[in-house]
Amino acid sequence: EKGGFEYFMLKEIHEQPKAYRDTMLGRIDEQGEKVILPELKLTPDQIMNIRNIQIIGCGTAYHAGLVGRNVIETLVRIPVETDVASEYRYRSPIVSPDTLVIVVSQSGETADTLAALREAKANGAHVLAITNVVGSSIARDADDVIATLAGPEIAVASTKAYTSQLIAFYLLGLYLAEVRGTQTPEAVKEMIQAMQALPEQLDMMLEQSESIKAYAEQISHHEHLFFIGRGLDFAVAQEGSLKLKEISYIHSEAYPAGELKHGTLALIEDGTPVIALVTQESVLEKTVSNIKEVSARGADIMVITYEEHAATLLKSVDQVFVIPKTLPLLSPALAVVSLQLLSYYASLALGNDVDKPRNLAKSVTVE
Ligand code: F6R
Repeated sequence: EKGGFEYFMLKEIHEQPKAYRDTMLGRIDEQGEKVILPELKLTPDQIMNIRNIQIIGCGTAYHAGLVGRNVIETLVRIPVETDVASEYRYRSPIVSPDTLVIVVSQSGETADTLAALREAKANGAHVLAITNVVGSSIARDADDVIATLAGPEIAVASTKAYTSQLIAFYLLGLYLAEVRGTQTPEAVKEMIQAMQALPEQLDMMLEQSESIKAYAEQISHHEHLFFIGRGLDFAVAQEGSLKLKEISYIHSEAYPAGELKHGTLALIEDGTPVIALVTQESVLEKTVSNIKEVSARGADIMVITYEEHAATLLKSVDQVFVIPKTLPLLSPALAVVSLQLLSYYASLALGNDVDKPRNLAKSVTVE
């Protein structure tokens, strides 16, 4: 059942290339030029009228929503908010019939997300669910469903469900952009081609997964550490931090790289591990100057970036982990996998039950 892997989590990490392919299957035309989402009831007219989008989820699904916000705002230029479901419900969200609410849930049974969905529907919004379980309560209650085809996820720590949710957001973002005409056909095609390359790029990364093991063992001796990044790198940092806390029980915090000096820098001491994500090239120089700030305070820095920046970055950091080159919007789908592996190997080094972390359940059906 674990297919030769020691834990379900590692098996599921390795299933991601397939999950990417399966989630894209039948949703891209034969020429590789357009996204087609035949399952959507949302009409082109309704899409033209969307005024705002709200994305709701819990935990890892919320983190996928943070990426989704950036993707949709960039591609479609519609304002998007992302909320944690238990907060959304009680903040009197501003919803109208022109609001598209997207709920994200692997299990489709999370109580807070389901309640938020019902709240949004009662307020007149069109609700689209991105879920991995098509027969779930959330899928049943939503007006529309985009199924992620990651297959059953057993490990409590979500991996392939999260990355398939990213693929769903890329597809949805492109589809909305096609309907609203906000991207050129060339730009759409370029992104589709880059998406189709992801499974193979991920296979390459997974072949080198041992290289992150030594670093994971090194950080497993620390009590706290930081993840930093800007833009989508910050979104991935938040997911990486959650994953590490969940299964290794090492305390960590994800911080926007530019925000450290507004307080958090006080916690950086000699030897504090800092993991910096540097894939967003439009802000690369800015992140590098933040890396220098933490380095000057003695932090032990590991950077996740592209090959072409490795040599330069190695002048100011201790270690570099290289990921395959892709478009800025797509980098989370690759970068996060190195953080999944990092938390897996840290948890393993500490002798924890990787698949069943203490105090946590796979599906949270209480509020
Ligand atoms: C983290 C994790 C949780 C879930 C969250 C939402 O690895 O698994 O944070 O993501 O409980 O669950 P779903 O997606 O089933 O609504």
